Amino acid sequence: MIQARNNPVPFILAIDTSCDETSVAVTQGCVALSNVVASQVQLHKEYGGVFPTVAKQAHKENIGPAVRAALQRAHLSWREIDLIAVTQGPGLAPALEVGIAYAKDLAKAHNKPLVPINHIEGHVLSPLVLPRTFKDLPSPLAANAAHDVLAVIVSGKHTDFIAVKKIGHYERLGWTIDDAAGEALDKVGRMLGLGYPAGPVLEEFAKKGDATALQFPLPMTTSGDYNLSFSGLKTFSRNKIEALSAGGLLTQTQIYDFSASFQKAIFRSICYKLNKILQDRKYTEVWLGGGVAANMKLRSMLRITLKPYGLKLRVPYSKKLCGDNAAMIGVVAGVQTIQPKSDLEREPRLKLV
Ligand code: KG4
Ligand code: ZN
Repeated sequence: MIQARNNPVPFILAIDTSCDETSVAVTQGCVALSNVVASQVQLHKEYGGVFPTVAKQAHKENIGPAVRAALQRAHLSWREIDLIAVTQGPGLAPALEVGIAYAKDLAKAHNKPLVPINHIEGHVLSPLVLPRTFKDLPSPLAANAAHDVLAVIVSGKHTDFIAVKKIGHYERLGWTIDDAAGEALDKVGRMLGLGYPAGPVLEEFAKKGDATALQFPLPMTTSGDYNLSFSGLKTFSRNKIEALSAGGLLTQTQIYDFSASFQKAIFRSICYKLNKILQDRKYTEVWLGGGVAANMKLRSMLRITLKPYGLKLRVPYSKKLCGDNAAMIGVVAGVQTIQPKSDLEREPRLKLV
């Protein structure tokens, strides 16, 4: 028998192990009471990307302590938790597997319902997450905010324009047909010797560079749709770096200028397609989510694009909520009724729509 919910607004323990962060959160409505993120970035640095078997092992080691820390920081015990939410996909299969197996064991051991959550829906709703100082105001936004909203998801694996008709009802308007924006930033950053993940370093280097130093093409202007493509910018970068370095090394100034110009090229392409959508459709708000949403240059370029339409950009309240985290997973479960599924399986290629 599954234990009945005993709170008007249920307490949710959420788990996300979709890639290289082991994250566990406790949420109530839109409020994150705790959000533990055990990052594996240091472990993957030497591989220049996420190494699946290393990720799996690290998730196994981190998940137990992360669950205990999330409960402790929320000042709650298992008795008070009403529901367990876990990321089912999309993500790295061996990584997803660890979180799901652990969530199943917890659900059984503590007699709690278990609900599967789509990781992308987590990023879409991440701007709704509230800090615990809003504890007395659970989910003030969820009931009426998600109408005529356009979500822009910019992460290491996805770059999507998603219309939020209402919570749980989405339409994917456009997406990248090849690399994700974060992936392109990471790959070109790697060519520049910025390590992994290069996105945040590129943002810092870009501040010291001249964004007009190099002219990049604007891709997909004649595609007639809202889709994006970043692989051409990547190839253009490789050729440009080879030409500039002439077999030697780029100077520090060249690296700063390249970072600024390339970052601007990626974000300009996103803004171009966003503008195209806004010319065709009406929205009351635009939400931003995903790891690259932490980038201040992206935020300011998006805000400039939105200004003529009188639209505001809603971003996650902390940078921690931009990257992969379990608070956004808990909030997805907290703002709608999702059917429990005790026998859920990982779905690495799960789509939102
Ligand atoms: O959402 P996320 O943590 O993982 C995925 O679900 O993909 O996104 C990770 C991506 C990486 O490509 C990383 O380089 C990028 O987000 N990223 C940034 C910044 N912080 C993280 N890119 C640009 N500027 C940043 N400040
Ligand atoms: Zn993600």
